[in-house]
Amino acid sequence: PTIYAITPTYARWTQKADLTRLSQTLLHVKNFHWIVVEDADRKTLLVTKFLSNCGLKYTHLNAKTDQNFKLKDSDPNWLMPRGVAQRNTGLTWIRNNISPQTEGYLYFMDDDNTYDLQLFKEIRTTQLASAWPVGLSGGLKFEGPGFCKDGKVLSWYTAWKPERPFPIDMAGFAVNIKLLFQYKEAGFSNATPRGYLESHFLTGLHLTINDMEAKANQCTDILVWHTRTEKAKMKQEDKLIKLGKPSNPNIEV
Ligand code: UGA
Ligand code: MN
Repeated sequence: PTIYAITPTYARWTQKADLTRLSQTLLHVKNFHWIVVEDADRKTLLVTKFLSNCGLKYTHLNAKTDQNFKLKDSDPNWLMPRGVAQRNTGLTWIRNNISPQTEGYLYFMDDDNTYDLQLFKEIRTTQLASAWPVGLSGGLKFEGPGFCKDGKVLSWYTAWKPERPFPIDMAGFAVNIKLLFQYKEAGFSNATPRGYLESHFLTGLHLTINDMEAKANQCTDILVWHTRTEKAKMKQEDKLIKLGKPSNPNIEV
């Protein structure tokens, strides 16, 4: 069975660095299909070239975030949900391009998280749906499954909006791909309140906590971290541009 991973990505100075780091982790994973969805009107040359050289089995898609929901440079990052249109486009691609009989798993990967290779082994043991804690998430050391017993999640460990049906980061769960064909409407919405993207998707698949298989050593191992890449500072570059002396534009960063 294949792990289908959907990664939204958008243009910023650290994009190629983030994609490089992620792809070189993924090169160690067998039976893996990377669905990369650019937040753009058209596929960019940078990502197109990057993917053709990355050595992974991939599908390259694009879907631009609706302008009404697009973060401005000055906005705090939590103002709008991120990756909504891109993940939906990835889901549609799976529903239209793989047979409903295909055995596989679905996992959502931010382009800037940090993944332990053991995680992919855990994902492959998923029957219906599985969960594990995500490090550095939810304003905590980790967030996600709390008390687990006999491979089942019995409670959640979270501090923020604990009433959420699934108080868990996007990186903290995987599902059997067959659910996408069973529940064809399941997906993401820009109207989702802050912190509810994951809950909206998982409840759309008719899942509850009772369905969640506890991975990562009864959810006591941290195998993924919600790291976030610092924005690159371009103060000197901007000065040089004003002086008419920008860095060599032929060097892709
Ligand atoms: C957290 C979760 O880890 C995300 O999966 C979730 O989408 C997000 O919160 C949310 O609640 O919307 P965070 O690190 O804050 O993530 O978000 P980003 O990593 O900035 O964005 C998530 C993904 O969407 C990334 O792969 C990013 O490249 C992509 N993205 C972000 C876009 O495609 N377009 C954007 O304008 C911003
Ligand atoms: Mn992120």
